[in-house]
Amino acid sequence: AKTHYHDFVVQATKVKRLCKTHNSITVNGMFPGPTLEVNNGDSLVINVQNRARYNLTIHWHGIRQMRTAWADGPEFVTQCPIRPGGSYTYRFTIQGQEGTLWWHAHSSWLRATVYGALIIRPKEGSSYPFPKPKRETPLLLGEWWDANPIDVVRRATRTGASPKISDAYTINGQPGDLYNCSAKDTIIVPIDSGETHLLRVINAALNQPLFFTIASHQFTVVGADASYLKPFTTSVIMLGPGQTTDVLISGDKPPARYYIAARAYQSAQNAPFDKTTTTAILEYKSAPCPAKGLSSNPIMPALPAFNDTPTVTVFSRSLKSPQKVEVPTDIDESLFFTVGLGLNACPKNARARNCQGPNGTRFTASMNNVSFVLPSTFSLLQAHYNSIPGVFTTDFPAKPPVKFDYTGNVSRSLWQPVRGTKLYKLKYGSRVQLVIQDTSIVTPENHPIHLHGYDFYIIAEGFGNFNPKKDKSKFNLVDPPLRNTVAVPSNGWAVIRFVADNPGVWIMHCHLDVHITWGLAMAFLVEDGVGELQTLQAPPGDLPAC
Ligand code: C2O
Repeated sequence: AKTHYHDFVVQATKVKRLCKTHNSITVNGMFPGPTLEVNNGDSLVINVQNRARYNLTIHWHGIRQMRTAWADGPEFVTQCPIRPGGSYTYRFTIQGQEGTLWWHAHSSWLRATVYGALIIRPKEGSSYPFPKPKRETPLLLGEWWDANPIDVVRRATRTGASPKISDAYTINGQPGDLYNCSAKDTIIVPIDSGETHLLRVINAALNQPLFFTIASHQFTVVGADASYLKPFTTSVIMLGPGQTTDVLISGDKPPARYYIAARAYQSAQNAPFDKTTTTAILEYKSAPCPAKGLSSNPIMPALPAFNDTPTVTVFSRSLKSPQKVEVPTDIDESLFFTVGLGLNACPKNARARNCQGPNGTRFTASMNNVSFVLPSTFSLLQAHYNSIPGVFTTDFPAKPPVKFDYTGNVSRSLWQPVRGTKLYKLKYGSRVQLVIQDTSIVTPENHPIHLHGYDFYIIAEGFGNFNPKKDKSKFNLVDPPLRNTVAVPSNGWAVIRFVADNPGVWIMHCHLDVHITWGLAMAFLVEDGVGELQTLQAPPGDLPAC
C-alpha cells in the first residue's frame, strides 16, 4: 500500500461561467478541484492551506475514517475551522472501500466550488468484479450561481426565506451547450467504437437531486458510494446530493455525438427550482466531422419529468449488493427519526424583512423536532474527547415527541422545532436500526440523508407512514445495498442498519445544503470499545483551535 501526499491551497480564483467572471474559492486554482486517485488500502496525507477569506474545513465524503474521526472534517463537529491563513493536515487510510467517493468543503456553502473526485481502485493485485474498462471518467454534477454562493446563503439566513435558486447545473464545472457563453467549453467524453467506459458519476450539487442519462445508451450500474452492486441495466439514474454511482457504457452505437445530460428531480411540490439542463458530449472518435456538412448536432436524450418519482423508485429498488451480505440482526438500538422542514413563527420583535418565509414565518428543519445547532467554542469531538461540559447534551430523542400521522394533517405546534445541540449516544459495537420518515409537513420531499463515518445497509423503503408491523415483510436482509447516503422517498420512509464500530462523533444530515443550514441534522456519539483497536486515536498536533 502507498501513501499519497497532496497540498490543497484554497484561494480565490477567477472563474468565468455564464458570461461573467467571479472570484470563486477553489483548490489549487482548479474548478472542480483535483481528482485524488488511490487504491484500497492506501493512505492519504493532505495538507490544506487556507488562503481564502472564509473559515474552511474539508470533508472526505464517504471515507469511513476508522478511529480517525479527527480527519473527517465537518466544521465544529470533528474540528474547529481552519481560519484564513491557517492550515491543517488530514491523514487517513482507505480500509475496504472501492469505487467512487468525493471530497468537499464542509463549512457554510463553500462546497459550491470547493469539491473534487476521490477514486478508489481495487487493492493492489486485485481487480474489478467486472470486465476492466478501457477508459474511466469521473463526472461531477454541480450547481452554479451567478453570484457568490456564500452571499446567497447569508441573505437567506438573514431573511428567513428560501435562498435564490441556482443559475445552472454543471458537469465537471461546465454548464454546457444549452447555456449562454458556455458552448465552447462543453465537456467532451471520448469513446471508441466497441470499447467499455466506466463513468464515475457524483452528485456534488448543493440542493438538487438530479437525473442523469445519455442519449441512446444504456448504463450497466456496477457501484454506488464506493461499494459494488449487482449489475443491472437502466437508461437513467437518479442521484441525491452526496451520492455517487458507477456505470459502464459501451461504444456500441453508430459513431456520432450524443448528449450526456442532467437535470432536476424535484419532489418538493410548489417549491421553486432550477429547471435548466446541463450537458456534456459523448463523442465517438470516428464520428463524422462537423466540417464535412454532416449532421453534427449531438443527439438529445429524453429525461424523466421533474416529478417522476416512479422512475426514482424503480431505480433505487434495483440496487442490490452483489452477493449475500451480513446485515446486522438482533438489533440493540431501534430508532425512529422524522426528517423534514418546518416553519418557525417570527420572534415578536423581529422586523418584517427578516421573516420572508411563507406568511411571515422563517424556514426551519429538524429531526424528531430538534433543529441542530452547531457549537462555536469547541468541536463536538473535542468536547467529547476532553470531557468539556456544556457543549452538547446526549438527550437526542430516539422517537418523535408525539405520535402523529406524517402524511396527514399535522398539528401546528409540530411545525416549530426546538433548537439544540443534542447527540445520541451509542455503545461501541451496538447494532442499530434507524427508520427515517419524511414528515411532509411543509412539502413532501426526497431528503438525501448522509451519515458520516459509516456505510449502512438500506434494507427497505416505502411510501406513506412506516408501519412497524406490516413493513417488516419488506426488509431485505439478504443483499441490500451498502451506502453512505440514502435518498429517503418523498412522502415516505427508509430503514437502514449499521454496527456502531467506529468511535467518535458523527454527524448525520440532509445533504441538501439549505436543509442543513436550517437544522436538518443530528450527531451520534459512538463510545470507545475495549482496547486500542476500538478506541479513537489522539488528536493530531495541528488540529485547529477554536
Ligand atoms: Cu458530503 Cu456532511 O457531507
